[in-house]
Amino acid sequence: MWVDSAADLICQSVAERISKSGVCTLALAGGKTPQALYKRLSQPPYLQAICWPATHIFLGDERCVPFEHEESNFGMANRHLISQVPIPPQNCHPIPIYAGPSAQIALQYEEEMKRHFQHLPAQSESLTKDAKGHFFPVFDLIILGMGKDGHTASLFPGDPALKEKMRWAAFVQKSPRPPRLPRATLTLPVLNRARLVIFFASESEKKDIIRKVLDETERLTSVFPAALVRPAGKLIWMILKEG
Ligand code: 6PG
Repeated sequence: MWVDSAADLICQSVAERISKSGVCTLALAGGKTPQALYKRLSQPPYLQAICWPATHIFLGDERCVPFEHEESNFGMANRHLISQVPIPPQNCHPIPIYAGPSAQIALQYEEEMKRHFQHLPAQSESLTKDAKGHFFPVFDLIILGMGKDGHTASLFPGDPALKEKMRWAAFVQKSPRPPRLPRATLTLPVLNRARLVIFFASESEKKDIIRKVLDETERLTSVFPAALVRPAGKLIWMILKEG
């Protein structure tokens, strides 16, 4: 089953990072596809293999609803993983949806990320600067999904949030895809500075868009946000063949 090889990959990446810098900072995807993986990571052998006290969990994006709401990404991640493993509560960094729904959510999430990344040991090289002197966080691992329209996190085709060049998080007034809720999302500059990005997409559901997004000839000018994710580190696509 794909979840075991995916869980192996994540477990290995987290362990490598912790052995190098003593801490691993990852961002989880929302949606349905990663749920089985989160459940698997909460079970042996991964439950014991991952050093949860040295692991920090952020979200790649969120729907602006209370965590108890069925559409909450943090709620989902908490149900399947976070509440099932010995991770200290202070290592969990949900998107502060209670600050909005407004751009305040994105600003407060950026502050939360700054509080974390600015206090990581220097050797973890967790902050990087662009040519204009803007600082950006370096996530060790970002897990992403993709919609049939080529969106990823809550970066939708043609949305102004996709053009963000400076902020670490952005607010999306209303998602054009279900659930049609206000969203908050990591921005492209942050996704593209990660050490490792892993996309999970089901082949049966998303065959066409996967082909378009992975088409090298038009990737740089693509309208599909998922195609614009080209991290400084490694990029892995796990195309899931069900059954
Ligand atoms: C969200 C997600 C989103 C998701 C894709 C794929 O909050 O909706 O973060 O980017 O990854 O929509 O969703 P599925 O895995 O449910 O197909």
